[in-house]
Amino acid sequence: MERLQKVIASSGYTSRRKAEELIKEGKVKVNGELVKTLGVKVNLSDDIEIAGVHLTAEKKEYYLLNKPRGVISSAHDDKGRKTVVDLIETTARIYPIGRLDYDTTGLIILTNDGSLAQRLAHPKAKVEKTYIAKLNKILTMEDFYKIKNGLVIEGRKVIPTRLKIRSKDKEKETSLIEIAIVEGRNHIIKKLFAYLGYDVLKLKRESYDFLTLGNLKSGEYRTLSLKEVKKLYR
Ligand code: URA
Repeated sequence: MERLQKVIASSGYTSRRKAEELIKEGKVKVNGELVKTLGVKVNLSDDIEIAGVHLTAEKKEYYLLNKPRGVISSAHDDKGRKTVVDLIETTARIYPIGRLDYDTTGLIILTNDGSLAQRLAHPKAKVEKTYIAKLNKILTMEDFYKIKNGLVIEGRKVIPTRLKIRSKDKEKETSLIEIAIVEGRNHIIKKLFAYLGYDVLKLKRESYDFLTLGNLKSGEYRTLSLKEVKKLYR
């Protein structure tokens, strides 16, 4: 048994907050009876009717997208820019788990499974993500070890779980760094390098937990297998 507003929200009909408003406005019926209070618990087998429409739980969908540059990581954009959701052919109300910057490319997961999204977004989930950052300078060994040993960024220490110099271009004076972290603060990789005076010219997420991009080209996506979804739930 779950709260009515939660069941409505996880069906994909609307957000939990809007569902609460609909209940209070007297627009929701359970098994034909009007429900106007918020405490009511229901089963998935109960017949939920909102303003005349009967709900059926939305089937859960899971996608792994290779996000291109110039696409925003949310379900809607006020400025009308293209979003990661626009790249996936589905009618389900999916949204991305976590965020990649507008100019960041690479692996992002999209789903309409709110409980998985919540679980993975929780700091306790400790999901490791691997990024490849192209820096505007050659990373010095001194700075390499500073990052490796952990830097305090905006009051919290970031210690990479993996740090490697993939390549250095001495002519162009750029370097490619592989860095894996478990934390999920927005813009954290750019902030980390900016702290030491480096600009991130390009940023790509190569892996998310055990998931990798495989052969997916920019803008391509695939569905996750049941086995992969189960593994993410662990
Ligand atoms: N860190 C960043 O700076 N940007 C991203 O998109 C992801 C992590």
